[in-house]
Amino acid sequence: MSTAVHFHDQHVDEAGPSFGDDVIAGLGRSPKALSPKYFYDERGSLLFESICRQPEYYLTRTEEGILAAAAEEIASLVGPESLLVELGSGASRKVRLLLETLRPSRYLGVDISRDFLLQSTRRLAADYPWLEVHAAWADFSARLRLPTGVEGRRVVAFFPGSSIGNFTPVEAEAFLARLRRALPPGSGVLIGVDLVKDTSALEAAYNDAAGVTAAFNLNLLERMRRELGVAVEPGNFRHLAYFDAASSRIEMHLVSRCRQTLVLGECRFDFARGETLHTENSCKYSRKGFQALARRAGYRPSAVWSDAEALFSVHYLSSD
Ligand code: AVI
Repeated sequence: MSTAVHFHDQHVDEAGPSFGDDVIAGLGRSPKALSPKYFYDERGSLLFESICRQPEYYLTRTEEGILAAAAEEIASLVGPESLLVELGSGASRKVRLLLETLRPSRYLGVDISRDFLLQSTRRLAADYPWLEVHAAWADFSARLRLPTGVEGRRVVAFFPGSSIGNFTPVEAEAFLARLRRALPPGSGVLIGVDLVKDTSALEAAYNDAAGVTAAFNLNLLERMRRELGVAVEPGNFRHLAYFDAASSRIEMHLVSRCRQTLVLGECRFDFARGETLHTENSCKYSRKGFQALARRAGYRPSAVWSDAEALFSVHYLSSD
């Protein structure tokens, strides 16, 4: 098997709104808000990798422990020679915990960050020469489509990291329903979901002492300056993350430290002192609550694994 990566450019034909369009729409709204997908430019993707290594951010290491412990069971649910599709593949670290046990015949990484996707899939192809590696550059939150000719005996969509939590529950249900329609019959979804727990542990995870999450959040302003020429001083904003129990989610915001105006082309956006730009939701579920959501999206929840402290869960959802 060759170690080349089969690249599928699904980005060019997605004529959706650009970063600039979304900044204009999001800052023009009240309250101001922007999609968290814009965190992930090259610097943001690196900062996110660093968040995953922070001691307070229990999500990554806990999910990795669950996947390693459950790999045999996952393999027996899926069967051999599958097509493993990783959504938001990033550094493709977690999938390595499954590959030797699962032995899929094909892997397809899908990510919005092209360079990151290429680097990580190339490394995967080099480290697993028996695996046929594909990379699709796409915004899967906007549109989901398996590239033609990329098939497997059974398709498993792997969506780790509790990225599903970055959608609201209504959006998550719609996304999972769309994913189900994009997969052939008999497919499965292996998905990591962060669990509700005490507020202090949740808030610490999004306010690490080293300030990496704050830098990740503020990088959004730097990206606006770099890519769109917005005259903004990131030091005039501060990072805010708190758990909102009513909606069972961590909310991240950028808080304006003073009265200021951000200018983008012809558009001017006034911020009052203390006004926020809402940058992310990270919804937390109970195991049962997430299974109910999956059922509403048309799946049969077939298995769920958790760690001893019930910090995190990994679900296997059958598409029929
Ligand atoms: C990618 N996503 C699941 C992360 C989360 O926990 O919601 C993004 C993140 N935001 C701040 N820290 C990590």
